[in-house]
Amino acid sequence: MSKKLSSKKLEKPVKFQTPRGVHDILPEDHAYLTVIKKVVRHRARQAGFRRISTPIFESKDLFTRGVGKGTDIVEKELYSFATKKGGEEYALKPEGTAGIVRSYIQHGMNQLPQPVELYYIEPFFRHDRPQKGRYRQFHQFGFEIIGEPDPGIDAQIIQLAHLIHADLGIAEKLTLQINTIGCPKCREKFTDQLRDYFIGKERNLCKNCVRRLEENPLRLLDCKEEDCRILAENAPKFANMICDDCKDHHQKVLELLDAVEIDYTENPQLVRGLDYYSRTVFEFWDESEGAQNSVGGGGRYDFLVEQLGGLPTPACGYAGGIERIITHMKDSRILAPDKDQIDIFVAQLGFEAKKVALQLLTELREEGVHALGALGKASMKDQLGKADKFEVKYALILGEVEVREKKIILRDMSSGVQEVIPIGKAVEKVVKKLGKKSLDKYDPSKELKKDTRVRPEEELLIRD
Ligand code: HAM
Repeated sequence: MSKKLSSKKLEKPVKFQTPRGVHDILPEDHAYLTVIKKVVRHRARQAGFRRISTPIFESKDLFTRGVGKGTDIVEKELYSFATKKGGEEYALKPEGTAGIVRSYIQHGMNQLPQPVELYYIEPFFRHDRPQKGRYRQFHQFGFEIIGEPDPGIDAQIIQLAHLIHADLGIAEKLTLQINTIGCPKCREKFTDQLRDYFIGKERNLCKNCVRRLEENPLRLLDCKEEDCRILAENAPKFANMICDDCKDHHQKVLELLDAVEIDYTENPQLVRGLDYYSRTVFEFWDESEGAQNSVGGGGRYDFLVEQLGGLPTPACGYAGGIERIITHMKDSRILAPDKDQIDIFVAQLGFEAKKVALQLLTELREEGVHALGALGKASMKDQLGKADKFEVKYALILGEVEVREKKIILRDMSSGVQEVIPIGKAVEKVVKKLGKKSLDKYDPSKELKKDTRVRPEEELLIRD
């Protein structure tokens, strides 16, 4: 060791852990994530949605204006930071809708055929109190349909969410809770009545509700605290104040859900925790946890585009919580397909055998066989032990003698039966034994075509 290196004192090692409320997604859980993404992509494409990703962080003001200043998400849960030079404040995205609406306006998507249908699968960040189903980094898939006020859109989004739950085997555990919170006009009257009702009852309200009474009395209706809930049950009912247009819209959404045979529970208490909603709001609950840990939620947000600087544009959307869906899949004992299974292990001894093993591994993989080989210096016993741990179906074994004789041993790992075959026939034999169905073949050159058109610069995928 050089003097310089040895004289340098090593810092005391520290065992780092993930911060509270955030998690590694280990390979076992990636199998669930992969199947969920696959189902979402499939259902989204079937219905004409195109995928979008917005940045992980954006102007804090976008969320304050979009989601609402008085909401828990903005007031308590936003991860925000100032730029190095100070001045602008940014925040990690706590949800997807505000960013997508910003993107719709920024890229002039109102010039595209309307409505614009977008979907996303992304991580989000909320400084929530960590507990089961509540994390500080979590993932959502979501759908936004921007540019169409028809109740058919609300029903279509709800149906899409339902189909995804059904594909993943959890639809039966979930109930759809649905409500209308009307338009700003009919809501204003209702909000005034609610305020009048709750004023004077502050002693029985939780701290949050006392504050909400000022900012957004509607939120008092879905407080989870016992005392607030009892008061909320006797509060004025929106059904008595809703305007004819909003009533008609709601009725049509319900009729369309009936037409596609989706069950729902009308829940006049449901208002959702984000300020941008108007008319339809809905959540998917599981019977044991109810509102506490909804699997997903969404609704109409006809005024958000305008509020964020665009033209008046109606819209509707939904987002599902991927971690919560994985928990429900595991509770229902649904196994995600393991696509990482290794089929064959190539064991070798000696440098000449290593060269052949490397060639065989390359050929096997090109044929679509998941193949692994120990290219280190482990003994044959250790290599076969490793093959066992990976639960491979077959092992190909060769040493210097086999290389010289151009032969190789093919071992069936479950029965232990071995046969000696020519090296040149090994790949063909393994492929035959595994069967076409287990081959994992993907040839990107079949999909990637050369673009021969002259393209304007703004069409480039990665934008400045
Ligand atoms: P949200 O109800 O705030 O709605 O979130 C949707 C789903 O994300 C929740 O139902 C839940 O499954 C999951 N989720 C939320 N917070 C956490 C957390 N801390 N840990 C784990 N999962 C969580 C929205 O975000 C709206 N943007 C939905 C929408 C789209 N509305 C219209 N378009």
